[in-house]
Order: sequence, then C-alpha cells, then structure tokens
Amino acid sequence: MFSKKMLTDLDVKGKKVLVRVDFNVPISDGKVGDDTRIQAALPTIKYLLENDAAVILCSHLGRPKGEPDPAFSLKPVADYLGTLLDVPVKFAEDCIGEVAQNASEGLASNEVLVLENTRFHAGEKANDPEMAKELASLADLFVNDAFGSAHRAHASTAGVADYLPAAAGFLLEKEIKYLGNAIAEPERPFVAILGGAKVSDKIGVIDNLIKKADRILIGGGMANTFFKAQGYAMADSLVEEEVLDTAKELLDMAGGKLVLPVDVVIADAFDANASDKIMDVGDVPAGWRILDIGPRTVEAFSDIIKKAGTVVWNGPMGVFELDKFAKGTFEVAKAIAESEATGIVGGGDSASAIKKSGLEDKITHISTGGGASLEMLEGKMLPGLAALDDK
Ligand code: 3PG
Repeated sequence: MFSKKMLTDLDVKGKKVLVRVDFNVPISDGKVGDDTRIQAALPTIKYLLENDAAVILCSHLGRPKGEPDPAFSLKPVADYLGTLLDVPVKFAEDCIGEVAQNASEGLASNEVLVLENTRFHAGEKANDPEMAKELASLADLFVNDAFGSAHRAHASTAGVADYLPAAAGFLLEKEIKYLGNAIAEPERPFVAILGGAKVSDKIGVIDNLIKKADRILIGGGMANTFFKAQGYAMADSLVEEEVLDTAKELLDMAGGKLVLPVDVVIADAFDANASDKIMDVGDVPAGWRILDIGPRTVEAFSDIIKKAGTVVWNGPMGVFELDKFAKGTFEVAKAIAESEATGIVGGGDSASAIKKSGLEDKITHISTGGGASLEMLEGKMLPGLAALDDK
C-alpha cells in the first residue's frame, strides 16, 4: 500500500542527503529530555552513513516566531545526537543562506550535519518556495523521516520535495504502515479508544472511525461533553458547550458503536489531594468534577480490548498526571499490552502513559506523531507524504 519512493529506492552513495527529521523534543536546561523521536530517526541516519552518504538533518523545534530564538536552538539536539553516533556530528547555525551552504560544502561522506531550527525563518511555515529551494540547494536528494511533522505543509516538510528527488525514510514508512493499515484493513474487531480533554480536537477522528471501527471507547474529559449532550448535569467537570450539538450528532450517527463510561471518579477539587469518590454516571453533585473513568468502566473497556483484533489508542482516560486519577489510563494501557490485538498508540499523552507504565515492549507500535497520527486516523492524506515522489 506504500506507493511512495523509499529511501532504499535511492542511490545515496557519495551523495549529500537532506533528511527532514522531527527533532521537536523536550529540552530543559540545555539538555534533551525524552529522546524517543531522536532514537526513532536513527535507522534512517545509520542506513545513510553505512551507504556512504553525507547526512544533512533539518527539523523544527518548538514554536518560535519565524526568527532566531536561542531558547529553540537545535544545538543541544545535535550535541546529543553526537553521543549516539560514531561519526562526527557538525552543527550549522542557520538552515539556509551562506552559513548552511558553507557547512554543506564542507561535509564529507559519513559525516552528519544538523541545521539550526527551520522555524527561525518565516518561510518555513509559509511553505515559501524560495526557502524550499534554498534548503534543496544544500543536497542532492531529500528524505522525509519526520512523521510527527508530516501533517504540516511547510518548506522543509513538503515544499523542498519539489526541487529534489524525494523519498520516505524508514520511520515515516513504518508509521504510515501501522496507522494506514489500521484504518484501511484492520483485523477485526477494530477497537478505537479515544480520550483527552477535548472532543473538538477529535471530531474528525470520531467521524471517520464511526465508518471504520467496530467500537469506539470514549474516556477522559471528552466523555463529559457526551454526558452533557445526553442531559446529565456535569457540575464543575470540563465540558465543551460549543460542541454539544456535534456531540449529539455523533452519538446519533454512531448508533451503539460509541461506548461511554458507566462509572467515573469524581473529585471536589482539581488537585492531587482532593477528596475523591466513585459514582455511576448521572448528575455530578455541585462542586465536584469528573477526573477519571471508574473501575466498572475499566473492566468493560478491558473486556472489549481483550477480544479485539486491532486496537488504536489516542488520549488519556483521566488526569493521569495526578496519581489519584491515573488508574483508568494505566489500566487501559495494561489491557492493550495484555491483549493479543495489534496495539497502536498515538503519540503525546497516551505514548507517555505507556512509557511510564513500562509496557512499551508489549505494544505493537507507538507513534512518534501527535497531530500527525490524529490526521491519519481522520483519513487525511498528510502533505509531507503527498509531496514525495511516487514509486
Ligand atoms: C509535534 O510535536 O506534534 C510535531 O513536532 C509538530 O509540531 P507543531 O504542532 O508545532 O507543528
């Protein structure tokens, strides 16, 4: 089903290869935090080095305002990458212009160059053809391995592919394979689990999954909006009033496919030390709010997950940053890990919940993309993929 040119279709020997990676990783005190995205890019980088290419890496980091901002420098990432590879990792303080040109010209095969944050130029997000051309002029070939950014039509993710032979890296291919297959030809029953605070972020996903999935289990703050749409009082629970009508429509459209919690954990404050209790779904007492799914829901969800052929999970079941309200999320993670189903976890919070619970090895695929994995589940074509050469 992968119709795009792959890295292995390119002759990279002795060539300069510009690779768009997603090195948008947490940095604090100048040090890389979670390095998952960097590790995930290593197979492509190592393949290129083993095949005698000169590797030029570009990425964004954070959301600077189209101009240089030291707080968003990729230098710490370049330094960190240097500790993972046996070859020199150089750094250029700009991703285009003279600095980048000189750095590229001085780069030999089997060396790596990391370019400074692409979002230090306004042309990146504007997908400015001039910026794309400048990036392309640094190399002979382009490889996109930035799945996490593939939903962005930016100069370094999409535009640049107009000016160079352009292929997909190993990470991009793997992500598309798992997420694409889940939607196109899932082993059934196909169960989607959606959580997180907002329904508004996931309307497109629910809409698409209603057509594809056998069951959609809903947890997290977004369940509250559905409860409210069903007429329950939600007291201080987070509810998105502006999408109540949409929530009603989705409930009607889904028939029995949308499975809402049957019980919830409520608290008298949004606080680690709040009083909490379990209640069946109904009117939430004044002054209280829903912060997690309850034990009967965990059991019901786990049962469905156990019998699934494919499970896709995106979004926590409760406020899992607070221990008291983390149980629903961790129990769902455990159920996916224990199920025989192909388990696919979307990036962001659900991925970090899986890692926190030490179940990473038991999950078929944990996506490195947040927004990108959601857009895949919405059935959208990602611009970063669309821009690549066809096979
Ligand atoms: C992400 O972290 O989801 C990607 O790196 C994309 O970042 P963005 O939402 O700032 O475009």
